[in-house]
Amino acid sequence: MDKTQQDELKKAAGIEAAKLVENGMIAGLGTGSTVRFLVDELGRRTQEEGLEFTGVTTSRRTQEQAESYGIKIVDIDEVDHVDVTIDGADEVDKDFNGIKGGGAALLWEKIVATNSKKIVWIVDESKIVDTIGKFPLPVEVIPFGAGHVIKRFEDRGYKPVLRLTEDGKPVRTDENNYVVDLHMDCIDHPQDLAEDLINTVGVVEHGLFLNMVDTVIVGDPHGPRVMTNSNK
Ligand code: A5P
Repeated sequence: MDKTQQDELKKAAGIEAAKLVENGMIAGLGTGSTVRFLVDELGRRTQEEGLEFTGVTTSRRTQEQAESYGIKIVDIDEVDHVDVTIDGADEVDKDFNGIKGGGAALLWEKIVATNSKKIVWIVDESKIVDTIGKFPLPVEVIPFGAGHVIKRFEDRGYKPVLRLTEDGKPVRTDENNYVVDLHMDCIDHPQDLAEDLINTVGVVEHGLFLNMVDTVIVGDPHGPRVMTNSNK
């Protein structure tokens, strides 16, 4: 699949998911190239159809895009709940375990998701996998002592790589932390790995989102396909 086709599938999933946002709702808006299509559609509905909702965003990038359409964005602490959060994902398996954080927004994404009544992911079909792990697993790490955390990951065989910008500096998240990507290729025991990572001092959060999502909308050449998680 080339990028143009992939973008068409992402767009179709984003437009389909935008239908879930109704007047008066508080909606969590994720981050990434698929979510950009979602926000474009919500912006269109806001401007052309008078849709009125409050958004909580998972990154400054998404906040800027949403506000450019006149969508009202508030801080997560200004709302007591989030009705639905719509976000992208890097990989999803049949048990609804996913990897997120390719865009370095995993910490805010997990905070918004954790406070949401319903979580929806929008993906193109290339993101649906048998076993997660081919996509390098992002881990958000405090800069102080990050070298030691990376060494620990190496010792455990996690194949860590500090994520760098094009000019060779460490990528910084919206919380000014580093991202370390684990090139594990195949994650057979995601729950065990999640526990190990979160119990490592210096790790703020990891990109394993295990059985959190309620619905996955998959951009498919035959039209958007909905996968519902019945185990939540
Ligand atoms: C951002 O940190 C990520 O979790 C994204 O949601 C994820 O990488 C999906 O991004 P794309 O929609 O750009 O593939």
